[in-house]
Amino acid sequence: MRRSIVPGSFDPMTNGHIDIIERASRLFDAVTVAVARNIGKNPLFSAEERVAMLQEECAHLPNVGVDSFDGLLVDYVTHIGATTIVRGLRVVSDFEYELQMAHTNRHLSPEVETVFVMTTTEYSFLSSSIVKEIALLGGSVEGLVPDSVRQRLERQVRK
Ligand code: PNS
Repeated sequence: MRRSIVPGSFDPMTNGHIDIIERASRLFDAVTVAVARNIGKNPLFSAEERVAMLQEECAHLPNVGVDSFDGLLVDYVTHIGATTIVRGLRVVSDFEYELQMAHTNRHLSPEVETVFVMTTTEYSFLSSSIVKEIALLGGSVEGLVPDSVRQRLERQVRK
């Protein structure tokens, strides 16, 4: 069985993330969406909340599970018996950071492969940071994140 990992901060998850997860679920027998607990970015949502949002939104994908991890991604990949890291590419400017990360992970663990999946054009401009900025400045994030995430965001911003 080929298991892949879709890792990320997911603070919060967006429709672009769901697109990548759905694509990974069609390519692999099993997919673990892995929420990085320590993202050092003063996250808006706790790791538990980020996991809960992903669990809700991935419920329609029977071969997808959601978990969180601490420490190095490659250690977690090996720990759960996965073989492949799946990352989404939106635009060319993503490439430099993604390449650096893929090479670093290969250096740390040569047997773990990274594959890139192109995000649908519709979401090529979308990121968690953009979504947070819009929400914090009182704009509408409708159509950018699932409805339940939008509601959580609105509640979080009001706090
Ligand atoms: O959604 P993001 O913020 O682009 O995800 C980045 C993430 C969490 C996948 C990356 O920062 C990561 O793998 N962090 C775990 C620590 C690690 O393994 N670092 C070395 C590889 S860069």
